[in-house]
Amino acid sequence: AIERTFSIIKPDAVAKNNIGAIYNRFETAGLKIIASKMVHLSKEQAEGFYAEHSERPFFGALVAFMTSGPIMVQALEGENAVLAHRDILGATDPADAASGTIRADFAESIDENAAHGSDSVASAEREVAYFFSTEELCPRTR
Ligand code: CMP
Repeated sequence: AIERTFSIIKPDAVAKNNIGAIYNRFETAGLKIIASKMVHLSKEQAEGFYAEHSERPFFGALVAFMTSGPIMVQALEGENAVLAHRDILGATDPADAASGTIRADFAESIDENAAHGSDSVASAEREVAYFFSTEELCPRTR
């Protein structure tokens, strides 16, 4: 089925000028960008987005990193988009990520892992809505 998923290109990958290279991976995989913008998150925005991780030991470092510079946020649309996106991202820890995946090719560590992708259709809906209004989404008819 056609799904939507949510993507972040994190501060490390933006700083390394890898936005276009990562967009190319999305498009090559058949994922269509239906909304996109650059944002520099506030502490409150980052904490709200990652609220499910608030009790984890890495939460403080995660929020500090995600507010350290601008990020790109995207809504992606395509067949089986949530899983298709996670496949091309690779494992959360780049040391475990399969070769040819975004994290294997662009990330340095589990903390600075280049990109985020929704883990389910339900999270995708919440995450897309966290950053984009309905009017900002441009569903593709071709
Ligand atoms: P992301 O998909 O953005 O979701 C939460 C982030 O926390 C994750 O990617 C990692 O960058 C970061 N993180 C740091 N340590 C861990 C860990 N032990 N398990 C999961 N995520 C971690």
